[in-house]
Amino acid sequence: MYTVPKLEDYSPAALDRAKEMAATAFYAEKKAALEVARDPAIGQLERSNTIKSFRDRWIGRKSGVLNQVNEIWLKAAPGNFKREVGLLANYLRAVVSAGVEDAERDANFYLLAPLDVLRKLASSETAQHNLADAKLAAERIDITLPGVQRPIGTKHPVLRVQDEIVAVFKAMGYSVGEGPEVETDYYNFESLNFPPNHPARDTQDTLFIADQERKATRDRLLLRTHTSPVQIRTMEQQQPPVRIVIPGKVHRNDPLDATHSPVFHQVEGLAVDTNITFCDLKGTLDHAMKSLFGSSVKTRFYPSFFPFTEPSADMQVSCIFCGGKGCRKCKFSGWIELLGCGMVDPNVFEFVKHNGYDSSKVSGFAFGMGVERITMLKYGVEEIQLFYEGDVRFLEQFA
Ligand code: PHE
Repeated sequence: MYTVPKLEDYSPAALDRAKEMAATAFYAEKKAALEVARDPAIGQLERSNTIKSFRDRWIGRKSGVLNQVNEIWLKAAPGNFKREVGLLANYLRAVVSAGVEDAERDANFYLLAPLDVLRKLASSETAQHNLADAKLAAERIDITLPGVQRPIGTKHPVLRVQDEIVAVFKAMGYSVGEGPEVETDYYNFESLNFPPNHPARDTQDTLFIADQERKATRDRLLLRTHTSPVQIRTMEQQQPPVRIVIPGKVHRNDPLDATHSPVFHQVEGLAVDTNITFCDLKGTLDHAMKSLFGSSVKTRFYPSFFPFTEPSADMQVSCIFCGGKGCRKCKFSGWIELLGCGMVDPNVFEFVKHNGYDSSKVSGFAFGMGVERITMLKYGVEEIQLFYEGDVRFLEQFA
């Protein structure tokens, strides 16, 4: 048990040593007192006595250690060392009073807690520690590891090519438009110079919306078979000059095979102005194909028929697989048919002549291309279904 020794040596080192001894003794006794106070096996009286005697021993009025420090160290110190010894006593007073207060608070908890709780606490304390340690170990994260990279997906190849086509025309000053997928007979056929019952309608196997027999033919709804109806919709809204591309989904009653799908995508184009000629059409599309497939690709225009263009043409590109020499892909012709186009038929302008489309003053060209077809050529995809199956192994190749 610590007792306050007489001071003989007042050198700083000796004073330090004396301070150290007192503080060490205090912490050791505090620890011992608390061990007793926390023991669930002892009675509450013993618990409270333990803390009380710990308190008395250190800060008791008459014989407490702090008091003895005053008597034995401070009062006995020679005048020229009073200051140093005073500082030492102040330090010990601060340490001891804070420590006693702390021990009392701690012991109070055990004094107020019901005994069975104390027992449980004691027995579960180690278990709890183990549990907490296990939890900490399990939750340990290595912050130096790279984070989990969640795949964020990528643009579908068809939409990517669609955007690419649109961008080629945007760079030439074209604007971009859209139209509804559920269309009326008027926009999909009639205003595009397909008269009712005209056999040209048979070339596009149309999906009609059911139960519309009560409506006039031109008002009946269908799923648009091409993006061409947006030509008329655009010209109704906007006077010439017009330069617009229209990407979008179209529907046909075609059975699914390697190159056909009942739903696919087109990009429509329309340019109307004074003095637009077939040369403009050829130059524009030739430039677009070189942008999409590379500058060595050639184009040629083959006579064709569409009710809404006159003259009409099918545009072909030199085979991008063999360079035009002839291979299985181009059926050994060296050419691949890619899109329909032509000069806007004056009969079409008739439907919008009230909006500035006088066919004696303006002329124009139009074209329409299948996006899937161009995507298949660009990437060498042989089955159109691959675009719609959502198989990540296929799609991620375009990431
Ligand atoms: N709409 C036509 C089709 O789907 C393509 C086309 C568009 C032809 C514009 C000429 C002008 O087959």
